Amino acid sequence: MARVLTGIQSSGRQHLGNILGAIRPAIELANDPKNEAYLFIADMHSLTTIKDAATRKENVLATAAAWLACGLDTDKVVFYRQSDIPEVAEMTWYLSCFTPFPMLANAHSFKDKSENLSDVNAGLFIYPVLMACDILMYDANIVPVGKDQKQHLEMTRDMAGSVNHQLKQDIFVLPDAKISEEVMVIPGTDGRKMSKSYNNFIDVFLPEKQLRKQVMSIVTDSTPLEDPKNPDTCNAFALYSLLATPEKIEEMRQNYLKGGYGYGHAKQALFELILEEFKEERTRFDELMQTPELIEKLLTEGAEKARPVAYSVLNRFKAAIGY
Ligand code: ADP
Ligand code: TRP
Repeated sequence: MARVLTGIQSSGRQHLGNILGAIRPAIELANDPKNEAYLFIADMHSLTTIKDAATRKENVLATAAAWLACGLDTDKVVFYRQSDIPEVAEMTWYLSCFTPFPMLANAHSFKDKSENLSDVNAGLFIYPVLMACDILMYDANIVPVGKDQKQHLEMTRDMAGSVNHQLKQDIFVLPDAKISEEVMVIPGTDGRKMSKSYNNFIDVFLPEKQLRKQVMSIVTDSTPLEDPKNPDTCNAFALYSLLATPEKIEEMRQNYLKGGYGYGHAKQALFELILEEFKEERTRFDELMQTPELIEKLLTEGAEKARPVAYSVLNRFKAAIGY
């Protein structure tokens, strides 16, 4: 049985792009009985950019609530919060002493961040070592990540291989990255990739009124209501097509082509479809957000399952370096 492990950025509320592009595929993989899955919220990595305590706590809760609401089953998946197993920070020190400075200095994401962020801290520099420990500490075999994380996975393998070689022991399991090449890119309300950074997202967990407002803000052209319209260049149609049945999609396509059907109609249909498609998720999300102690309990139970694995790998490493 392969151990599949991945880290989730605790970036707060999860939008439709996150759900369709990341959460649903990961849950499908994690719930597969052929795999043993570890999923964790990377709330230690978030300290590189977020320093506010309340924001961090809120982000962890909203992230966990979204994953749980979307069907993550904690009986099948070890679901935990990175900071609940602080030994990962201890291991980061040991592993950083085996990591060549140029490897970190040449990392794309560090170069990129150091050029674009005002707070260029040492945590950003050491980020890939903490990430490698997240993976190696659990003897993970497969790590599903987006393309942007490919180099971090290569670095993880290099670090693991180099420790094993230098210590002449098989301390670490070399993990394989599972990069989803043809990841779906969900468009945002302005047609660009849906992203928190572009403020063009649809948050399906919002109360109805606010959700409707987001859907109605989808940018469309100024073709008059009575004229025929091109469905293939319309954001509202693109989003509708991601969720609707083939029959419903065809029906909307015909409505566009024949005219007399406004963008407002399409957006209303999309809004109603979102409410229907995410009915259960929305209810579960609200319940979870109102019972943060339940989320805490689930994360604590997850950490209790993950911790013995982390300890044993940490001790294997420590013994080999004389601690
Ligand atoms: P954002 O761009 O909103 O900050 P993140 O970078 O935090 O989103 O992405 C978290 C996860 O969701 C990643 O796995 C990413 O690939 C996925 N994701 C984000 N936006 C989209 C999108 N528009 N379409 C598909 N997947 C997405
Ligand atoms: N760096 C990853 C990201 O930005 C999140 C992450 C942290 C991660 N630790 C990990 C992913 C370990 C996979 C495995 O998305």
